Amino acid sequence: MKFKLEEKFAQSYNHNAVATYFAPGRVNLIGEHIDYNGGLVMPCAITMGTWLALSPNMEGKTRFKSLNFEAYGEMEANQIQVKNQGFWFNYPIGIINEFLKDGHQIPALDMLYYGNVPIGSGLSSSASIEIVTAFALNDFLSLGYDKLQLVKMAKRVENEFIGVNSGIMDQYAVAFGEKDKAIVLDCDTLKSKLVDMDLGEYVLAIINTNKPRALADSKYNERVQECQTALKLLNKEIALHNLCELTFEKFALHSHLITDETILNRATHVIKENDRVHHAAKALNNGQLELFGRLMYASHESLKDLYEVSGKELDTIVDFCKSYEPVIGARMTGAGFGGCAIALLKKGFEEDFAKQLSDYYFDRIGYYAAIYISEIGNGPIKL
Ligand code: GLA
Repeated sequence: MKFKLEEKFAQSYNHNAVATYFAPGRVNLIGEHIDYNGGLVMPCAITMGTWLALSPNMEGKTRFKSLNFEAYGEMEANQIQVKNQGFWFNYPIGIINEFLKDGHQIPALDMLYYGNVPIGSGLSSSASIEIVTAFALNDFLSLGYDKLQLVKMAKRVENEFIGVNSGIMDQYAVAFGEKDKAIVLDCDTLKSKLVDMDLGEYVLAIINTNKPRALADSKYNERVQECQTALKLLNKEIALHNLCELTFEKFALHSHLITDETILNRATHVIKENDRVHHAAKALNNGQLELFGRLMYASHESLKDLYEVSGKELDTIVDFCKSYEPVIGARMTGAGFGGCAIALLKKGFEEDFAKQLSDYYFDRIGYYAAIYISEIGNGPIKL
């Protein structure tokens, strides 16, 4: 990929790239809609991701091109740039703005991106672009940030520049992922542990619904808001910083404060899902994959019924998985409202699974899902 991108760079900008970087996408194994509630999540980086080739230019402007999009953008070097409605290059512009706000000079650069993470599918294509940009500029210009600072910067871009009130999981997973490891991240303390992703006789399948995710950002922000409402109500009786500080038993003592059924459902999901992650981490450590799989199914049910972020397409995939014996667990991953599901599938059934699921999904949804067998990969690197 590196050489192809460098070749395209030379064709596109009429000079050579001087450095090329890569950052992965991610899947979340379990712990959904937990990060902005200060709980435990369990994502891992995948080998799909975003490549960035770059070089300084003499034009006084930084230029952004991508092999995935026709739209290209530019910004005056060293001037904070406002957001352009809906364009992919808002992500790199947001990152450059952050470095500028911190008092750094960022020279005029030519940048060319290519990503093979399906866009807007819940595999963090946006965190991948943010982190590859932040990591590349930090390295190329020797700006001296550590990885956690870059992660926090990318989250600020998402929250303040793009306008999605997302938590820190995606950027963290993309930056700290390691081959064949899952990250158990406490989103309150930002301390994490790596757990061996020893799947034994199973593989991790990713199934993309291919559903266009209309209004996903506003529905996401609505869920964040609902959790804040629950927290505020509970705070009338107990002092909490976030919902995940509560065990279910303690929550039950105070849940009478939440009279709205929807808000109660949201909070119940959060508290139970956080507890499932604790169990899932133990199960993975002990090699109890079937237990892990059952927790995945339970997580999906809760996201469907209590948190209401699934949908017909994701449910169709998970329903199929339940009826297909070589799968021991499946769930939606990421924000939901379309996007991707993941499944733990017995080795040797990859082709049969893809064929049967494709037909099942097409019959019910009217278009095809895409199925990948995923490898757990490393965080960002200079190539
Ligand atoms: C998106 C957000 C994350 C997280 C997940 C849901 O991926 O960017 O911060 O909240 O949704 O778990």
